[in-house]
Amino acid sequence: MAKKSEFPAAKPADFKLGQAGVGYRQSAKTYVIHLAKDTNFSLSGTNLADQLDAETVVKDKDGSYWIALYQRCVHLGCTVPFRDNCVSFKCPCHGSHYNVTGEWIDGPAPKSLDRFSMSFSGDDVVVHTGTTNTKVPHPDPSTRLIPVPSVQCSV
Ligand code: FES
Repeated sequence: MAKKSEFPAAKPADFKLGQAGVGYRQSAKTYVIHLAKDTNFSLSGTNLADQLDAETVVKDKDGSYWIALYQRCVHLGCTVPFRDNCVSFKCPCHGSHYNVTGEWIDGPAPKSLDRFSMSFSGDDVVVHTGTTNTKVPHPDPSTRLIPVPSVQCSV
């Protein structure tokens, strides 16, 4: 459990670890993602609502969106760092690459990152590490929530 205010919302292109859009909690092995309410999703209407649900994205009452991503690469289990330089997650072991939503971009990972369920309690955000969604497949144009970043990772 942590204060919502510790995780300022941002649009994906502006994410910076610990400062905007993405925070890390080592005790929960979790990246907490906080997308601004005016995030430009690639989907809309019912398609968007269904996909947010399928990817365990939780909408807050202020209109912003939260995701709790498990840090473990779904290829062979390395810890995946967030890379500010390419606003995405890139695994140092074999190069699997994931968007800020945890959606697979490229590399050997067989699916997108796993994510925990979340809830809110007053001004706190609660990550339920005992309840994991391990079934988010590789996205395609009909399911991908946000575009792939245009900037290449430098390392
Ligand atoms: Fe991450 Fe292989 S463990 S790409």
